[in-house]
Amino acid sequence: MILNCVMIGPDRNLAISLQTSLHDLGGIDIIREFTQYPHEFELLRSIRSLGPHIVFLGLSDPDRSNEIIQALNAEFPTLQVAVFHDQVEPKLLLRLMKSGIREYIAPPFDPDELAEILIRLRDAAIKNPLTTPRSNLVYSFLPSKPGSGTTTLATNVSLAMARQPDTSAMLMDLDLNSGLIRFLLNLDNEYTILDAAQHASNMDEALWPSLVSSKGKLDVLHAGKISPGIRIENDQIRNLIDYARKNYTAISVDLSGNMEKYANEVMQESKKIFLVCTPEIPSLHLAREKFNYLKDTGLSDKVSFLLNRHTKNDILQTNQIEDILGDKIYMTFANDYRGVNTALAEGKAINQSSELGKQLNKFGYFLLERPIPSSVQNAKTKKEVHGLMDLIRYGLSRFTSTSNSASKA
Ligand SMILES: Nc1ncnc2c1ncn2[C@@H]1O[C@H](COP(=O)(O)OP(=O)(O)O)[C@@H](O)[C@H]1O
Ligand SMILES: [Mg+2]
Repeated sequence: MILNCVMIGPDRNLAISLQTSLHDLGGIDIIREFTQYPHEFELLRSIRSLGPHIVFLGLSDPDRSNEIIQALNAEFPTLQVAVFHDQVEPKLLLRLMKSGIREYIAPPFDPDELAEILIRLRDAAIKNPLTTPRSNLVYSFLPSKPGSGTTTLATNVSLAMARQPDTSAMLMDLDLNSGLIRFLLNLDNEYTILDAAQHASNMDEALWPSLVSSKGKLDVLHAGKISPGIRIENDQIRNLIDYARKNYTAISVDLSGNMEKYANEVMQESKKIFLVCTPEIPSLHLAREKFNYLKDTGLSDKVSFLLNRHTKNDILQTNQIEDILGDKIYMTFANDYRGVNTALAEGKAINQSSELGKQLNKFGYFLLERPIPSSVQNAKTKKEVHGLMDLIRYGLSRFTSTSNSASKA
């Protein structure tokens, strides 16, 4: 078992030294590191979205670290927190014990002692897994270039998730310059995501149902009519997502790709950011540019590429596309002009039995982090079914032509 850890280490030398010792022991992955004490909301957001087994907290500022311990205790009472400091201070130790901290690490980081601490932390983490009352399944969908099919994929995978039993799914349209989802799903609620954002800080069970639209079991906050220049504040979007986390299994957010401030906030909140591209060179080029931009903002670890409108006749092979992107493709979706447009005309989901429909269904299982049933895993694609149908038709036509000729004879 690999222990996923978050480290908060403003004392850089000490933090690096501890990391090296932990690394030497193995079995540890530092999935997020704070080189300064983070703001409370930023830390809680990271814990929620990453779900680590352990937090290693440096004590260089005892008051700040105490505030952090209190905040973590209040929000995640079962989270394992280990503290580290350049020396053992008995007074501090006592205060920490009162706050429920059981592991205090100080140099020299003796491998045997460290291993024992890790075993205790691991056992405690297994016994009391991190129960987040809020969902951490928040996903951002970002086009590499407008027209990549981002909204189409985000909408249809959300519909696929909502179809699963015991699942509630939410889709937010934050492409305020397009408002396509309202049209795609034929929604007529006059309230928009902007109304929801305005009421986000005092949202309640009475107000929420009037603001969301429903398509089957999927709840949607659409963007309404085109509203350029409208701003959504970061705290509004945070409150909105926080409310959704408490009420839905999974939340997908459709972004414009213009990297607005609120889009950055949504991406910070997300577990994964799906960057959607098509096999065309300009789309791939722009996908790479966006990936680099996200690298600069520290978000690239969350990015997964989706390749949409893929055909067998694409000029570039998958490995060549991955070379351009500089990363692996997470999932590929078929080009299905007719299927997508039929769904669009009817305001419905893409046909579930088509190749694209099946891919979206499977993608839904990935997003919900559920095992894929063998019926979905081994589902025949549309082309194969067509092949079978063609064979039957061929057989039938042969039969009819034989019987015709037989009757003629
Ligand atoms: N897999 C697909 N096969 C065929 N057409 C697609 C596919 N995905 C999207 N489209 C079409 O591409 C166009 C752009 O899609 P859209 O979802 O609006 O992209 P984006 O949100 O990235 O701007 C739409 O006309 C849509 O119907
Ligand atoms: Mg879009």
